[in-house]
Amino acid sequence: MTREPLATHRVGHVSDSHFTSSGVLHGRVRVAATYSGALAALEGSGIPIDALVHTGDVADAGEADAYLAASTVTRETTQRTGWPVVWAAGNHDVRAAMATGLLGEPASDAPLDRVIEVRGLRVVALDTSIPGHVEGGVDAEQADWLRSVLAEPAEHGTVLALHHPPVPVEVTAMARLHLTGQDRLEAALQGSDVRAILGGHLHYATSAVFAGVPVHVAPATAYTIRLTRPGGGVIAVDGARAAGVLSLYDDGRVGYSSLPADPHHVLDSTPEEVFSTMGVDVEH
Ligand SMILES: [Fe+2]
Ligand SMILES: [Fe+2]
Repeated sequence: MTREPLATHRVGHVSDSHFTSSGVLHGRVRVAATYSGALAALEGSGIPIDALVHTGDVADAGEADAYLAASTVTRETTQRTGWPVVWAAGNHDVRAAMATGLLGEPASDAPLDRVIEVRGLRVVALDTSIPGHVEGGVDAEQADWLRSVLAEPAEHGTVLALHHPPVPVEVTAMARLHLTGQDRLEAALQGSDVRAILGGHLHYATSAVFAGVPVHVAPATAYTIRLTRPGGGVIAVDGARAAGVLSLYDDGRVGYSSLPADPHHVLDSTPEEVFSTMGVDVEH
């Protein structure tokens, strides 16, 4: 008999909000509004989310007031929902400004690596930014830190959040801005309890398996990069934004679902009861 698994935990996922001092990006994108749209998509779904992960490029140029804006807009949602938030720094982020403006911590240029645990699920933010560089990295120190965090398994395993995702990159220009040190990351994940990796940076949705672990990349909340032929450069578009939900199931599986974050019209809405006599039984 087919048994639908039950989700034990769900992690909301947003990325690449690119907050600016002026509030505008590329002359027309209102970054607070597009980011809010992604949070509203998550909250409005009613899906019981245990934690929110932001996989970096929170700010576009690392200004202090951009982080304050990101913090304010996020709190507007989290004060209602109670979601703990895990922030992974991206190449556009400035560690010291992010530490003070967003995390409420003293200014520091140290990697912004963080660990939280929610009902037995561990969520780890690994800072893959390399100050002054666009590409990312996992150096020996970062890999050692990750290995030490993962040494003890968590009850429900670990979700790893990082900005530069270890996935093959279809947009060749973006492939030049990729994650270095992937061999170190792979070694640190060997034998660990990491069930999924969440990433950003690419500004388009993609997925892969790395070191036996599924990797899910959320598109940006600021703007989307269109897939192009190899050598086709980078084309940024004002639309197709999305948030994601990572679902961790009681049979060990994980799933990842995308929620449209741009304004859209509901065509039809059918109550659950209509489906209650159809097909297989579903518990929830
Ligand atoms: Fe970005
Ligand atoms: Fe990035």
